[in-house]
Amino acid sequence: MLSAQSEPIVRATLPVVGASLTSITARFYERLFEDHPELLRNLFNRTNQVTGSQREALAGSVAAFATMLVERPDERPDALLSRIAHKHVSLGITADQYTLVGRHLLGAVAEVLGEAVTTEVAAAWDEVYWLMANALIAIEARLYAQAGVENGDVWQRMKITERHQESDDAVSLVLRRTDGRPATPFRPGQYVSVRVALPDGAHQIRQYSLSTAPGQKTWRITVKRERDADGRVPDGEVSSWLHAHAEVGDPLEVSLPAGDLVLPDTGSPLFLASAGIGITPMLSMLDHLALTSSTRPVTVVHADRTPRDHVHRHEQADLVDRLANADLHLWYENDHHHSPAANVFAGRASLDHLTPDAGTAAYLCGPLPFMRAVRGELLAKGIHPSAIHYEVFGPDLWLSK
Ligand SMILES: Cc1cc2nc3c(=O)[nH]c(=O)nc-3n(C[C@H](O)[C@H](O)[C@H](O)COP(=O)(O)OP(=O)(O)OC[C@H]3O[C@@H](n4cnc5c(N)ncnc54)[C@H](O)[C@@H]3O)c2cc1C
Ligand code: HEM
Repeated sequence: MLSAQSEPIVRATLPVVGASLTSITARFYERLFEDHPELLRNLFNRTNQVTGSQREALAGSVAAFATMLVERPDERPDALLSRIAHKHVSLGITADQYTLVGRHLLGAVAEVLGEAVTTEVAAAWDEVYWLMANALIAIEARLYAQAGVENGDVWQRMKITERHQESDDAVSLVLRRTDGRPATPFRPGQYVSVRVALPDGAHQIRQYSLSTAPGQKTWRITVKRERDADGRVPDGEVSSWLHAHAEVGDPLEVSLPAGDLVLPDTGSPLFLASAGIGITPMLSMLDHLALTSSTRPVTVVHADRTPRDHVHRHEQADLVDRLANADLHLWYENDHHHSPAANVFAGRASLDHLTPDAGTAAYLCGPLPFMRAVRGELLAKGIHPSAIHYEVFGPDLWLSK
């Protein structure tokens, strides 16, 4: 909660700070990377810096947090903080790094807003920053403790034991610990960070969902190669590197599992909707449900461009078949061999013929327009907003909306 002296100052300056947050976060990253260039090379996703999406996610999260402090001080911004904390933990962020980030973020506020930032205004926003930072530090410390590691010590070297070309653009890598012990437990739906050394010497990190059930000797990730067909923008750095270089027998640097889009332990009916490579967390959930002989009602919806692009499609169908009470509905945008009898449709996904049970918990993963459309249809069918969960394969620009 904000102190009595800061509350009116934050309330009064929120419109001007909020309106300038994108410039503030842009300046923040410039300052941070001038001071510590190694953070841009080896920790932050440098493509997100070029496209500006991380800047937007940071600005959005700070604005949402400050608004909540002044408008709804009794609410806890758990969803907002949890998503960020899990991402930080997958990167091994440590408590001491918050001092550096705070210095540059508040320095950027002063630079961008100039004389409007009096000593009192600076102190009030310092308080906002530290309320948010301390809340994140506390969640991250809890996650590190639960995983039984020291703050930030999340990296392990695993070995690639299998590589499968799943489609023209997707490859699966099966990973095993080098000490022979079973892979670390995780919850279905979680992801790991993968860190690779690129040809220019930079170490870049990306996240990949674990795509089989937990509790086994190995983990599996499935990586879609990001490339721009028109050659207008560079190919994806890490996915292209993994496609070109990750071979059986090679080591791979991988973090501990993280992520808060996880299968709930309750028996509620499930609605799992994915598009494209967004299938990966859903496969882990389905595999787990099949291995535990779940009788929960499960509706699985998947959309893809064509059956050829639909990775793990036979595996997905087998998993659904193994469940007592599950059905699968597929949409292929560029394929006209639809068969409504077999629940295979042409075009974009639509939930017209589906009636989710009351109390359904929905999980969505795929491009934002797909998730937005499915979410809208679920809400229209009476599913409560709090029962709709989603994973974004990039900085979450929805958090603050
Ligand atoms: C929680 C989570 C789970 C994920 N799970 C998976 C998974 O299971 N499987 C999977 O394949 N991916 C997954 N991802 C996505 C993955 O982390 C990477 O984002 C993805 O592999 C692309 O990384 P990259 O380094 O190849 O591309 P990047 O270099 O990060 O580029 C991203 C995109 O931007 C484009 N680009 C490059 N430069 C520019 C520019 N100047 N202007 C505009 N665009 C540009 C690239 O062509 C590419 O399409 C997940 C992400 C998250 C956050
Ligand atoms: C109060 C302070 C902070 C806030 C509000 C904040 C906010 C965020 C947000 C919103 C994201 C995107 C999450 C997502 O949607 O995936 C993020 C990611 C990230 N944060 Fe923080 N963060 C803070 C502190 C830090 C610190 C101290 C570090 C360490 C230097 C750090 C490093 C990162 C990195 C490396 C990413 C991933 C960036 C990317 O992939 O582009 N953050 N943070």
